[in-house]
Amino acid sequence: MLFHGQFLCAFFALFFISFGSANSWVFRRLSMATYPTIYVDQSGHGNFSTIQSAIDSIPSNNGNWICVSVRAGEYREQVRIPMDKPYIYIKGDGKRKTTVVWDSHDSIATSPTFISQADNIFVKSISFKNSFNNPPTNYNPIRTAVAAMISGDKSSFYRCGFFGFQDTLWDVQGRHYFKLCTIQGAIDFIFGSGQSIYERCTISVIAGALDGLAGYITAQGRSTPEETNGFVFKDCNVIGTGLTYLGRPWREYSRVIFYNSYLSDVVLPLGWNAWGNFGGREHQLTFAEHGCYGIGSNTLNRVKWEANLSQDILSWLTSIRFVDDDGWISRLPVNIALYMYTNSGMFLSLLIGLL
Ligand SMILES: *[C@@H]1O[C@H](CO)[C@@H](O)[C@H](O)[C@H]1NC(C)=O
Ligand SMILES: *[C@@H]1O[C@H](CO)[C@@H](O)[C@H](O)[C@H]1NC(C)=O
Repeated sequence: MLFHGQFLCAFFALFFISFGSANSWVFRRLSMATYPTIYVDQSGHGNFSTIQSAIDSIPSNNGNWICVSVRAGEYREQVRIPMDKPYIYIKGDGKRKTTVVWDSHDSIATSPTFISQADNIFVKSISFKNSFNNPPTNYNPIRTAVAAMISGDKSSFYRCGFFGFQDTLWDVQGRHYFKLCTIQGAIDFIFGSGQSIYERCTISVIAGALDGLAGYITAQGRSTPEETNGFVFKDCNVIGTGLTYLGRPWREYSRVIFYNSYLSDVVLPLGWNAWGNFGGREHQLTFAEHGCYGIGSNTLNRVKWEANLSQDILSWLTSIRFVDDDGWISRLPVNIALYMYTNSGMFLSLLIGLL
């Protein structure tokens, strides 16, 4: 008996030791690469007190991940990551705690509070706001006022906020992945020719400030049938005030899909708008919905030209392959990919760690 007891103890000890070490191995895998960190702190306890001075200190042609950690606070500055500075990871203290605010307007090229032009940029837990018309109660005339402009390839935003009114987020071009972000605005507030998945994001409509006129969530800019770009909203929440269309075309072959998303009553029954100059060419557009729910998802009165995607196209657009055919998302400094397909991320990561 004693022998058996000792054996069992030894067995369990061994089990827990191996479980424990497998576990810490998993956590090493989860925390991924180590990287140098530059601290930005307005109270003077960091390396820099503005985000831009931290970015300026990073050498051109940076080839390894470097983290710019931005302590809580409201940073009043325009921030630009130039094309020659890839592999920057900007990390805030939370999208409600670290905010970058600017209020430039009129030009989509010069107004953005945040401009990201390099490839391989990762941004987490920070908000970008263009305060010219946000909140709308500041009674400025409504103008183009961009909060963020993203033109690099392989750029990803995790738990970030984008706040504006007209043209909030210029998703210019390249493969982008937005997860658990909040995007707020009223007119064409997610626009451009990016090839992007917005997953589990909150789309916060503030069209109530348009005095009865309808807003537009998207103005996507795919311009030929050969272009692979488009906006995919997957497991998102569309909420807010006033009335809005899901989108209107910025270019001839605009492509937008809302997939498995909650659409509140802010979404107009017609759903989509063809913008004046596209009348008669609506068949070129790919505006679709699949698996959505909520009052605004009733498609009974939708425009007749809403697209009905084949199962093949639908699976391609809504799988991560649409933005990531080479695994770049799994090589980010924080592995947001592990939690991609399931909410039981811990179980999945253990499983992956053990394999
Ligand atoms: C940033 O500040 C910390 C501590 O104040 C220091 O150890 C580190 O070397 C500084 N980093 C840079 C890049 O200046
Ligand atoms: C969409 O196409 C599928 C077949 O691919 C068909 O079963 C379905 O009825 C179509 N839906 C509409 C609204 O046309």
